[in-house]
Amino acid sequence: MALPVVDTEYLKEIDKARRDLRSLIANKNCAPIMLRLAWHDAGTYDVTTKTGGPNGSIRNEEEFSHGANNGLKIALDFCEDVKAKHPKITYADLYQLAGVVAVEITGGPTVDFVPGRKDSKISTKEGRLPDAKKGVPHLRDIFYRMGLTDKDIVALSGAHTLGRAHPERSGFDGPWTREPLKFDNSYFVELLNGEPEGLLQLPTDKALLDDPEFRRYVELYAKDEDAFFKDYAISHKKLSELGFSPS
Ligand code: HEM
Repeated sequence: MALPVVDTEYLKEIDKARRDLRSLIANKNCAPIMLRLAWHDAGTYDVTTKTGGPNGSIRNEEEFSHGANNGLKIALDFCEDVKAKHPKITYADLYQLAGVVAVEITGGPTVDFVPGRKDSKISTKEGRLPDAKKGVPHLRDIFYRMGLTDKDIVALSGAHTLGRAHPERSGFDGPWTREPLKFDNSYFVELLNGEPEGLLQLPTDKALLDDPEFRRYVELYAKDEDAFFKDYAISHKKLSELGFSPS
């Protein structure tokens, strides 16, 4: 099922919301948490039962209260400012647009954004997002359930080029890279550097080195930023359209 076609009125609102998001994200320096919000709304998708996915359901208290979503209320509240100005836009589109803008304004690739997502009030049960303490089989279980591939897993993990972990949110602490507000390939460079002083590597990040199929992408992206940007843009679009594009 492709994304439904929206009318020109709606497209105009999307353009305006995009501008508002650019300014909000620049002013509040909140690109990382906006990207995490988009990912956590989408990442609940189950390709077999066609449940979860980028449907705005993370706005339900039941869902944003899941342990994996700790801290994301901040990003939800930022999005409310934009929603108030553009009420026609669905939450589902707004959160995915915020993720795309976050990557764009921190210097990352342009991710094609197609609007038309519908909102859902139905939240899936806790436990669909990855557990950072686990390894290779868990990563595959979670991302294959979404209908994504090994290449998507590695490319999307590169989003940890942005932001940091907060002890009060996840129990982990610190940024993955030296410039956490710049979207580049430094996540992969640092990953291959062992455990650089002052930087974080989650067990799920390190797992990308343990598996030969994952590792070959880590090595490629560390030495070729263009290849990372190209693959990231494709994988991010897939993530943002789970349940809508053929998989
Ligand atoms: C932050 C886990 C994949 C984007 C985090 C944090 C954890 C985590 C534990 C720290 C949260 C905090 O304490 O504030 C994981 C695991 C993944 C994964 C286990 C499995 C591969 C992804 C993906 C994306 C992403 C696919 C986006 C495409 C982010 C961003 C942050 C973050 C941007 C920084 C948030 C901030 O600075 O507030 N992730 N993540 N992550 N994650 Fe992931």
